[in-house]
Amino acid sequence: MTQKILVLPGDGIGPEITAQASRVLAACQARGLDVEVEEALVGGSAYDAHGEPLPAATLEKARGADAILLGAVGGPKWDTIEDLAKRPEKGLLGLRKNLGLFGNLRPAILYPQLADASSLKPEVVSGLDIMIVRELTGGIYFGQPRGIEERDGERVGFNTYVYAESEIERIGRVAFEMARKRHKKLCSVDKANVLEVTILWREVMERLAPEYPDVELSHLYVDNAAMQLVRAPKQFDVIVTGNMFGDILSDAAAMLTGSIGMLPSASLNESGQGMYEPCHGSAPDIAGQNVANPLATILSVAMMLRYSLNEPVLAERIEAAVGRVLDDGLRTADIASAGTRTVSTTEMGDAVLAAFEAQ
Ligand code: NAD
Ligand code: IPM
Ligand code: MN
Repeated sequence: MTQKILVLPGDGIGPEITAQASRVLAACQARGLDVEVEEALVGGSAYDAHGEPLPAATLEKARGADAILLGAVGGPKWDTIEDLAKRPEKGLLGLRKNLGLFGNLRPAILYPQLADASSLKPEVVSGLDIMIVRELTGGIYFGQPRGIEERDGERVGFNTYVYAESEIERIGRVAFEMARKRHKKLCSVDKANVLEVTILWREVMERLAPEYPDVELSHLYVDNAAMQLVRAPKQFDVIVTGNMFGDILSDAAAMLTGSIGMLPSASLNESGQGMYEPCHGSAPDIAGQNVANPLATILSVAMMLRYSLNEPVLAERIEAAVGRVLDDGLRTADIASAGTRTVSTTEMGDAVLAAFEAQ
């Protein structure tokens, strides 16, 4: 049966990178992938056109899609919108929440060809392959009450960090299952020395552990985890953590792989529907210049093929094509190093496509 894919380019570099990923998707269609691809607006571009970062029509299309590919949202143009509910980021958060995409997989893998592009010494990062499992629809991002209000003659800003046991348990299960398929090590990251919500988090992870006796569970406080990620990142196999800690740690992990432009992601719900996006943002500082790295978005298509469309062979073919292009010494500016050839966003797309076709 024909499956439906919704592409949401978004803002800033979003349209530039999704354009390249869409070409790869089209090449998969030419190889027999039976999908229908549609585009819609989200984020600032949707706000400009319809006054809403997540128009009802976009949400409707997203609900009906088997998988969604998103570029990035946001930018300085919309940072001053007073009504926070209308900010581009709310469009993305609304998609995640409405579709129940609680399980966010962020793989930080160092392609061996990029050892020189990493900010850490090659011996510290070579062979790096970490999977960060980030809870995506709860925690401080969504907790109530929240707001800014007048108290005792001054304004006070507040958010609520809250997790129900059931939310912790379901992300815990995703992480244990993931560890089971990998090197069987799971590190849960929390702040259980200070925050009650993460005391509960740790307790639930411990409660699940006996059901996965083949997985070795450990715990780290988030400050130490951040330090360990840059000290000795290869100690990690799978990391599971809440929404905000996962956001921060995955950007740090991205840099170990050479650039945030290399990190793809999958966000899955209970029925296997997924949204796929690079971990980076709309990069306003380089938008419109045809210099952004499209590989995180192209690798997100590979994740889509693997996790939503059950096409692991095509997924591997895309990943192999990316490897081939890196072998050939082609680099966008963010991953360039001595002896490599710097190419544009579109040239990188051309090269991945050619390597894909050559297989
Ligand atoms: P960012 O990830 O957009 O950019 C951080 C730095 O990384 C910038 O210097 C940028 O040029 C660089 N960078 C990011 N992606 C790159 C790529 N593919 N190739 C080369 N370089 C790349 O983060 P920011 O500057 O903090 O945020 C900018 C906007 O993006 C904000 O509006 C923010 O809310 C939004 N944002 C959106 C998402 C998303 O849509 N998933 C994620 C993060 C940030
Ligand atoms: C991400 C982004 C988003 C997040 C923002 C844009 C809402 O930083 O996908 O990592 O914080 O989750
Ligand atoms: Mn982020």
